[in-house]
Amino acid sequence: MTTWQNVRALYQIYPRSFRDTNGDGIGDINGIIEKLPYLKGKDDSLGIDALWISPFYPSPMRDFGYDVSDYRGVHQMFGNLDDFERLIDVAHAADIKIMIDFVPNHTSDEHEWFVSSRSGKESVHRDWYIWRDPSPAGGPPNNWLSVFGGSAWQYDEESGQYYLHSFLAEQPDLNWESPLVRAAMNDVLRFWLDKGVDGFRCDAVRWIAKDDQFRDDPVNPDYSTETDSDPYHALLHTHSRYGNKLFEYLGELSETVASYEDRLIIFEDYPDAGPERMKQYMDFYRKIDASIAAPINYDIIHEPYSATEIRRCIGNFQAALRPEDIAIYGFGNHDNSRLASRLDRKRARLMALLQLSLPGVPIVYYGDEIGMIDVSIPPDAVQDPFEKRVPGKGLGRDPERTPMQWDDSFAAGFSRIEPWLPVAEDSDLYNVAREQEDVDSFFHLYKKLLAARGSCAPLIKGNYSTLDSSTSAVYGFARTYENETVHVFLNMSSELTKVALDDCKDVILSTNPERATGAVAGETLHLAPHEGIIVR
Ligand code: BGC
Repeated sequence: MTTWQNVRALYQIYPRSFRDTNGDGIGDINGIIEKLPYLKGKDDSLGIDALWISPFYPSPMRDFGYDVSDYRGVHQMFGNLDDFERLIDVAHAADIKIMIDFVPNHTSDEHEWFVSSRSGKESVHRDWYIWRDPSPAGGPPNNWLSVFGGSAWQYDEESGQYYLHSFLAEQPDLNWESPLVRAAMNDVLRFWLDKGVDGFRCDAVRWIAKDDQFRDDPVNPDYSTETDSDPYHALLHTHSRYGNKLFEYLGELSETVASYEDRLIIFEDYPDAGPERMKQYMDFYRKIDASIAAPINYDIIHEPYSATEIRRCIGNFQAALRPEDIAIYGFGNHDNSRLASRLDRKRARLMALLQLSLPGVPIVYYGDEIGMIDVSIPPDAVQDPFEKRVPGKGLGRDPERTPMQWDDSFAAGFSRIEPWLPVAEDSDLYNVAREQEDVDSFFHLYKKLLAARGSCAPLIKGNYSTLDSSTSAVYGFARTYENETVHVFLNMSSELTKVALDDCKDVILSTNPERATGAVAGETLHLAPHEGIIVR
C-alpha cells in the first residue's frame, strides 16, 4: 500500500469541473468514481496515488463551496454521503488516497452556527464569530479589508454590531479564540477521519488568528493602482492575519490528525508574507512529526520563469526542510492562472518535469497534465464572486476552473448539457482520449514522469542538491538515494545550450519529443530551448 511518503503525486480535483454524470452541467462524486481508472490501475492510467478534492459540502455556493453550511455533509449537486463513502472505498481499493478540503476560517452565513450567532447578543453562538461595535467615530471597527474587495466588516442592523468576514460577507470568520469553536472544528476533522479520509488541505489558515487588539492594518507604501490591480494589496495585512496564536491552532489540528494512522494535513499558504513567515512555519513543523503535517510550497506560481530565480526559490525551501519532511510543491491551483497560460505549453512541459522530479509530493492540478489553458470567460458567463466584485482586472478565477477535457465530443465529454463554465476552444486538440494515443503529448509526458517517480528510487526518496554547473540559463540539481543519483537539467533559455554531464549519462526522460533516451556517448549534451531532462 502506498504511504504519504511514497505518493508519486497528489491530484487536485475541482469537483464542479471534473465529470458530470447526472446531467446538470456540474461535476459530481459519481463522476470522480467513474474516472478513477483514468488516474490509476490501468495500462493507460496517468499514475496518481492521491486526490485532493476541493469542497463538496452543503453550501449556498457564494464562493463555490468555500462557504460551508454543513461540515458533515455532501451538497446534493455532488451526490450524498453514501456516494462519498463509496468514493473512499473504491479509491482505497485502487490504492488511491483521498484528501479533502477543510475550511476553518469561515463558514457560510447560512451555517446554523452563524444563523444562531446573528440572532442576537444573547445567542450561545454569538462569540463563535467575531462581532464588534462600530468605531467611536462610527463605521467599521477598523480598516481591515476583505480579500474579495471592500471592508472586511459587515454591519448588522438588528444588533448594531459589525461581524468580520475576511472573504465575502456571506463567509463570516469563525472566532478561533473560542475553545468551543476549536473543539467543534477538531470534531469535524474526526468525523471525516473516522470515515477513512487520508488527509486534509486546510484552506486560508493564515486568517484564523488575528491581532488580539484588532489594530488597523498599515498602509502598503509600495502599492499603486497603476501597477497592481488588486485593491486588497493597498494594506499590509500584518494585524488581520498571522496572529500570535496561529501555530497553536494549527498544532491542535495536527494533533487531531496524529491520533490516526498515515493521515496527512497540509496548510494552504503563499510566500507573499515574507521570509520571516516561512521561518515561523518551519519552526512549527520542526515540533511536529513529519509524517503528520507537511510544508506546502506555492512559491513557483508567482516566481518569474528564470533559471536563477527558480533555483534560488527551490534551494531556499529545500534548505529549510528536515530530511524527513514531505515537501508539497504546488505549481497551480483553482485560484491561479494555469501553468500553460502563465507560461506557454513548451515552458509548461519543462515545469512539469521540474515539479515531478523534486522531492516530496507534487500537486498536479486537474487538466494541467493534458496542457489545459485558461479559458476566457465572456462577462455574461462570469461565475466567480471575486470577478463580480472587482470586475475587469483579471482577478477572476473562472478561467482556470473550466471543465476537464475528456474527448472531442460535446462539452469535451464532461457533461451531456451545457456546462456551468465554457469549455476551452482547443479541447478538440487537448483532451485525454486524443493525448492517450499520442506518445509525445502532455499526458504521456506526465505519465512517464509519474512512472519514473515510481521506478527510480532517487526521484522519490533521494535528497536534493543544486548542481554547481547551474548557470543563468540552465538550472541543474541532483537527487541521490543510497548509491544511486539522477541529475535534472532545465534549460530555461530560448537558446540551444550545452550542459556537462558528469557521471550521469543515461537519459531517462526529456520534455523534447526529438530527444532519444538511453546512453549518451560524449561528455556533454545540447539542450533545446526550454528542454528539461532527467539523466541517470
Ligand atoms: C481558496 C479559495 C477561496 C478562499 C476562501 C482560498 O484560499 O483556495 O478558493 O475562495 O480560500 O475560502
